[in-house]
Amino acid sequence: MKDRAYRFPTGFLWGTATSAHQVEGNNTQNNWWAWEQEPGRILQGHRSGRACDWWAGRWREDFDRAAEAGQNAHRLSVEWSRIQPAPDRWDEGALEVYREMLQGLRARHMVPMVTLHHFTDPLWFAERGGWEREDAPQRFAAFVEKVVEGLGDLVSLWCTINEPNVLAYMAYLEGTFPPGEHSLRKALRVMVHLLRAHAAAYRVLHRRQPHARVGMAIHYRGFVPARPHSRWDRWVARMLSRLFNDFFPYAAQTGVLLFPWGRRREPELQGTQDFVGVNYYTQDRVQFDVRAVDAFFARRFYPPDADLSDHGFIANEPEGMYRALHWAYAFGVPVFVTENGVEDADDDLRPRYLAQHVHQVWRAVQEGLPVQGYFHWTLVDNFEWDRGWTQRFGLWALDVDTQERRKRPSADFYAAICRSNALRYEDVARYCPEVLHRVFPQASTVG
Ligand code: FCB
Repeated sequence: MKDRAYRFPTGFLWGTATSAHQVEGNNTQNNWWAWEQEPGRILQGHRSGRACDWWAGRWREDFDRAAEAGQNAHRLSVEWSRIQPAPDRWDEGALEVYREMLQGLRARHMVPMVTLHHFTDPLWFAERGGWEREDAPQRFAAFVEKVVEGLGDLVSLWCTINEPNVLAYMAYLEGTFPPGEHSLRKALRVMVHLLRAHAAAYRVLHRRQPHARVGMAIHYRGFVPARPHSRWDRWVARMLSRLFNDFFPYAAQTGVLLFPWGRRREPELQGTQDFVGVNYYTQDRVQFDVRAVDAFFARRFYPPDADLSDHGFIANEPEGMYRALHWAYAFGVPVFVTENGVEDADDDLRPRYLAQHVHQVWRAVQEGLPVQGYFHWTLVDNFEWDRGWTQRFGLWALDVDTQERRKRPSADFYAAICRSNALRYEDVARYCPEVLHRVFPQASTVG
């Protein structure tokens, strides 16, 4: 029984995910850099600064870390504002740096997945109205054209837009991301433009690269009715899921936009995804609340006994991963877990979070779901947007001032998973014995 293992199919991709602004440093030409300079925008006044110093070349040592840890893939993003610093100017030097990075991945036998938009916009784009403008999709498509022309020989796995649902929510409803708006009307408008930008990018990529595989990374949030027997809780959970989770992949599959009040067809969106990328972190309990008008009549919370992360940001809810993969499968294309991880400076929760989530991925794979890879968020602690450096998601810890990296135990645990292409009993027993009986229920009773 002790050699029990949940084995993954040959060729399964194991990696970590990163994004340009969070790791490169000195991205001075984008809207986030400007946002960070405004008082009160980022927790404790933190700034991205040098970040993980990748632009100065530290990607090399971090890619070494990833490769030595058995990872065979890596998801990174290219920074639009570096490649197109002004509407009429392309920076070939910046593209060259990305070429080096992608060659660096390939030399280390890691498959690159490249994200074309991960939350940041060039300042010039933001200043002329950003995603609210009707012509934003064409602007984005021109950038994508330039990228595929410059990097297309090195990558064929593309993620057009990271978490368009989170972007619309945080930037246009909650107002914690730039441009800090609170307008449902604007959020919906931006959602439509992001979808059109995705579809335009899909076409550009496939025209230039017929074998390309193109998708979005959608933040899937589980919404579980707090009182399963309440029709109202079930209704509100469904409504939130439809608006937040379904909107983007459903439109890319069917060409139908699911608005809160009804549907609208946009045929050119149809059939524009070759995979669904799932970013899964946690799930909420939701209860109908007639007073919560601004929150779509939902009160969202974690169960009182939840296994919470450092700042209570994430509850360890692994079954939500299983549900997320079933949800993604319904769109009829292969699935990647494009992000999953937890903030945990001391690494006391991460090992069991990792084991339990990878176990749920395996369950889905075992049932025949076409899940083709898993990217852990993230390799090295990085700049966590409005939460600054307060949240530590890295397999490696980072001292932001000295740039020193320190390996957390989870890095070794994840390496064991990647190298063996399996979640093994012995590794769970070693790194997180407290969940051994849950992850290997039969084995642990037999001994
Ligand atoms: C996701 C983002 C990613 C990172 C993680 C923790 O929503 O895509 O950039 O911030 O959360």
